[in-house]
Amino acid sequence: MSISPLRQRLLITGSSGFLGWHLYQVARAQGGLNREQIFGTHHTRAPHPPTWQSTAIDLTDFTALKALFEIIQPTAVIHTAAQSKPNLCQTDPIASHAINVTASLNLAGLCADANIPLVFTSTDLVFDGHAAPYREDDPVHPLSLYGEQKVLAEEGILERHPAAAICRMPLMFGVAPTASSFLQDFFQMCDRRQVLKLFVDEFRTPVNGFDAAKGLLLALETGFQGRLHLGGKERLSRYEFGRVITEVFGLDQSLIQPAHQADVPMPAPRPPDVSMDSSRAFALGYAPQGVRQGLEEVKERG
Ligand SMILES: NC(=O)c1ccc[n+]([C@@H]2O[C@H](COP(=O)([O-])OP(=O)(O)OC[C@H]3O[C@@H](n4cnc5c(N)ncnc54)[C@H](OP(=O)(O)O)[C@@H]3O)[C@@H](O)[C@H]2O)c1
Repeated sequence: MSISPLRQRLLITGSSGFLGWHLYQVARAQGGLNREQIFGTHHTRAPHPPTWQSTAIDLTDFTALKALFEIIQPTAVIHTAAQSKPNLCQTDPIASHAINVTASLNLAGLCADANIPLVFTSTDLVFDGHAAPYREDDPVHPLSLYGEQKVLAEEGILERHPAAAICRMPLMFGVAPTASSFLQDFFQMCDRRQVLKLFVDEFRTPVNGFDAAKGLLLALETGFQGRLHLGGKERLSRYEFGRVITEVFGLDQSLIQPAHQADVPMPAPRPPDVSMDSSRAFALGYAPQGVRQGLEEVKERG
């Protein structure tokens, strides 16, 4: 991939997060960007590697955000910073609205004023899970506050910056040094010989974090505008996904047990099947690996 002028000063919000870490690796390796061309923002945790130029900032502070924009003068922005945990959004609606909605809209306004591209990370949880697989133009109907906040952000961003790319992310897996993930929790529970109850009635189209990062950079590179699904090619239940993880990593299969969503009450309601049809992205060149190969890559990279 060539170095586009759009990415001469790429700003990635959420540098200490799961996706931020993957984006940095992919932008350096595949996009050929050097360290001086990538800027990050983090909030409470420092990013990895420590050499990444990243600024500690609360993105809900508009004055600070505007000042940072003036200093960095980005030529493109990928916005991954968020309260990404649906249960925490449900229990802290005000703080989560501030980062997931208000800060995202402010960022869109700054990108529109500067006439630079913005890639926003939304979620498959904008859907209620009763009519999968979902295409970009299907009606949204979120069950959780997190999903509602992402819908508000999508709409508000496109109003302020119609050229923005709204990328709906699926369940992502991998291991990032600074962020917790589903896979890390899985390994820790297996290490403790704890039984994992995994849903047989919750379906997603998961992708490896590196592939997700490649999809976001592709959206930026191709100048994509509007909504784009970056799901994987396979639809799996959480339980089926867990089985593949145990096979790839040689873990004890008896530690995973089938469960139903109704068995495990949580603050945020969970849709049954938010599998995405990502053929629009596939036609653009997005080529995520299958789940098994994606897990093999995580294993190889250690
Ligand atoms: N992970 C998934 O499976 C998944 C699935 C669908 C969609 N998504 C979406 O994909 C994006 C990336 O998710 P992720 O898993 O990488 O999230 P993550 O690991 O939870 O990282 C979130 C990032 O946002 C930053 N942040 C949170 N509040 C902030 C604030 N007030 N000001 C500045 N920065 C703040 C965090 O900074 P500190 O850590 O330094 O505090 C962290 O860098 C999000 O938009 C998420 O909603 C994720």
